[in-house]
Amino acid sequence: MCPQTPPRLSPGGNSCASGIDKATAEVFAAHGVHMVICDIQDDIGGSVASQISSKNPNTKIQYQHLDVTVRSECNAVVEDAVRFLGGLDSLVHAAGHIHQDAAETIAEGELDHMLDTRGGTILNFGSDLASDPLPLLAHYAASKGAVQSFTRAVAREWGKYGIRVNAVLPAVWTPMIDGYRENLEAESVAGYDVFMNDRVCLGEKFGDVEIDLVPVLAFLVSDASRWITGQLVPVNGGLSLVR
Ligand SMILES: NC(=O)c1ccc[n+]([C@@H]2O[C@H](COP(=O)([O-])OP(=O)(O)OC[C@H]3O[C@@H](n4cnc5c(N)ncnc54)[C@H](O)[C@@H]3O)[C@@H](O)[C@H]2O)c1
Repeated sequence: MCPQTPPRLSPGGNSCASGIDKATAEVFAAHGVHMVICDIQDDIGGSVASQISSKNPNTKIQYQHLDVTVRSECNAVVEDAVRFLGGLDSLVHAAGHIHQDAAETIAEGELDHMLDTRGGTILNFGSDLASDPLPLLAHYAASKGAVQSFTRAVAREWGKYGIRVNAVLPAVWTPMIDGYRENLEAESVAGYDVFMNDRVCLGEKFGDVEIDLVPVLAFLVSDASRWITGQLVPVNGGLSLVR
């Protein structure tokens, strides 16, 4: 799955308690990738990391608290990861949150928080909603637009250092999607499901994290994708057709 396994990975500048980050950490560890995994939810994150560690005793795993909106914490985690792993080959920045609010009532702090939950690392996470937003998600769409522009900009700047930077645009079932649907009115859930069924070319609402997404992430952090940088990579069943 991961042809030239990157031996030292920090999935998530990052997070591991839930969704994409958790599945990525589990599958990558099973393939021998050494990792520092991080989240703001220390109770869940710590226990996920212990489970992964006990299932993969030959893989070096360390959990660390990280709020990706705090620059000093990001710097400290990278330094610790380099010390613990003996270097760092890849970062997968899958932290994120979604919260519905009418555009005119979005609090300044909430917009700042959305915009701060981003990063310029090897793999960032954008969204189809950046270019095709849904109601009440203006701040989420704006934050993802920022992630995508930032990804392209730093790919240009950091190519000279041999650093590749891409953004994945997923559409996969995770607790984030469950939480979003739970917060909709019943009729909106039905409408949302019809919208997704109509729009996803492959006919399923959402893909499976482990089957449909993690192999693409493995490809993107491996040398097999050494000529790919600055790209928005949709793994979304054709939900939107990204350029
Ligand atoms: N699931 C999808 O279909 C989908 C679609 C488009 C974009 N995305 C993006 O992919 C990324 C992962 O999403 P997911 O579906 O796995 O979500 P998720 O809610 O299941 O997991 C997100 C994780 O990020 C952590 N987190 C939140 N804020 C953080 C912070 N400030 N610092 C550190 N960790 C933090 C959470 O604790 C959680 O463990 C997000 O950036 C999301 O916006 C997901």
